[in-house]
Amino acid sequence: MGLFDKLFGRKKEQSVQQQPVQKTTTAPVTPAAPKEDLLKIGIVVGSVREERNAAAVSKWMYDFANKRNDTTVQYELVDLEDYNLPLLGSEFAEPDAEGQIKAWSQKMASYDGYIFVTPEYNHATGGALKNALDYLKPEVENKPAGFVGYGSLGGARAHENLRLIFGELGVADVRTAVTFSLMSDFENMSEFKPADYHAGNADQMLDQLLSWSRAFKKLRK
Ligand SMILES: Cc1cc2nc3c(=O)[nH]c(=O)nc-3n(C[C@H](O)[C@H](O)[C@H](O)COP(=O)(O)O)c2cc1C
Repeated sequence: MGLFDKLFGRKKEQSVQQQPVQKTTTAPVTPAAPKEDLLKIGIVVGSVREERNAAAVSKWMYDFANKRNDTTVQYELVDLEDYNLPLLGSEFAEPDAEGQIKAWSQKMASYDGYIFVTPEYNHATGGALKNALDYLKPEVENKPAGFVGYGSLGGARAHENLRLIFGELGVADVRTAVTFSLMSDFENMSEFKPADYHAGNADQMLDQLLSWSRAFKKLRK
């Protein structure tokens, strides 16, 4: 498979394994935590492309977050693939489109903060994630978000693109982002093998996200 095929998502060889995202995964929560102190953080799997790298990167982020043993924090994976959202404004092709839109809205409204795992397509975030975000505003307003990206430059341009979008949605994006390189954190641009040094950034991003999630929760009361 050539470089172009790898970058633009043509089928991988059979030997490369796609890591499925475990559906609706939640971390164990400290039982003593009063309900009002509990922070719920959604980790959004931001690509629906067949053979997507988003699945492995999101799983890494979920496992990393849970290993920190943050008390009174519950992390959950939210997979765009589970929602089958129509293009905003288009005629509904699927019979349950309205139900899917409602489920997406309610799920996103249930969180105190977010981690968006985003690919970089044409120096921006992917169309599927942009479309999904276009359905939201009150659900995410006055809540913080952190980014995890991957691409030839670590998905940095997708992060910056999301920061513009979040300015309009009233989402407070934290400074530190996790940026995986398609060249050095993946084998053949498809098998996720992250370098150890990303742990420092991931910790910093989570520290910022959790402190803002607590502060914004008070603000929304
Ligand atoms: C339409 C398209 C455009 C892309 N543009 C870029 C780009 O501008 N910058 C970049 O770093 N990677 C780019 N890529 C490569 C993707 O970052 C890479 O395929 C990544 O694995 C996509 O995420 P996914 O596998 O989770 O869908 C592009 C891929 C596609 C399919």
